Amino acid sequence: MAKIDSSTKVLGLIGDPVSGSLSPRLQNRVIDRLGLNYRYFAFPVAEGDVKEAVVGAKGLGLKGLNVTVPHKKTVAEYVDSKSRAARITGSVNTITFAEEGEIEGDNTDWKGFLKSLELHGFDPRGKRCLVFGAGGAAAGVVYGLVRRGARRIVIVNRTESKGVELARKMEGLSPGVDLDVRPLTGSDIEKRIERSDLVLNATSVGMGATEGEAIWEGKSCFRSGQLVYDLIYNPSPTEFLKLAGDGGAETIDGLDMLILQGLESLKKWTGEEFESGELVDELRRCLRA
Ligand code: ATR
Repeated sequence: MAKIDSSTKVLGLIGDPVSGSLSPRLQNRVIDRLGLNYRYFAFPVAEGDVKEAVVGAKGLGLKGLNVTVPHKKTVAEYVDSKSRAARITGSVNTITFAEEGEIEGDNTDWKGFLKSLELHGFDPRGKRCLVFGAGGAAAGVVYGLVRRGARRIVIVNRTESKGVELARKMEGLSPGVDLDVRPLTGSDIEKRIERSDLVLNATSVGMGATEGEAIWEGKSCFRSGQLVYDLIYNPSPTEFLKLAGDGGAETIDGLDMLILQGLESLKKWTGEEFESGELVDELRRCLRA
């Protein structure tokens, strides 16, 4: 580990809880690898303390913060400016304290997501996609797919109105994209999955209390030539990915996206340019250990 001295710059993560987060291990590993004089810490911040945490971090001269559950929406109120992605998704996962004193809010989830697809040789341009979920994680993914020119995106959510709201936020971003919303109980979901090139789980079903469950139980709809992605990385593979794999689909868990969105944040804070794809295998091994 590089030594900490009076010039060491501080980065961190705010969320509640943060004790299980992989981000400190991930970021400090890359910081060491690049020989940077930075350290990254996890700060547990309760719901009512978000403003104080952000203002305090600025006062102490931190360079940047990642933001995780449940503060990604709340924190958007306390930044001075927001990137287009943060504005449209309503979700800030990266705060940068600029030299001029401005607090900038950004969302790097969508970039990490697109890079993870690239690593797996999948180009969303012109593709038919189906996304389960309409929360913050789904917003990043759908934004990425819209920006990258997917042909069709079906949002499937338990609460249909939230899916409609998410689709509305994406309106006008890319005229060529056909956005559709279906409830989880829709009788046509099985068929729509079968017709999709990319099927993605952006709900929390499959982890925590729902470990062992899958957002979609059928397996005859999954097929070879299809990519099935679960944003969950613990457990891995999820039941959803097991079913998809049994059906012949190629599968990806959420670890690459976690790594790649983190690297996008680090690039922003440090101004360093590095090839993220080359680091992914090493970081995967380090985080799985
Ligand atoms: P995140 O920021 O991680 O996306 P979120 O915004 O709370 O978290 O979104 C969670 C997503 O998982 C939502 O799409 C939610 O569906 P609802 O909008 O209907 O709440 C979905 N989800 C969570 N538990 C679920 C369950 N048991 N069955 C189906 N969907 C579920």
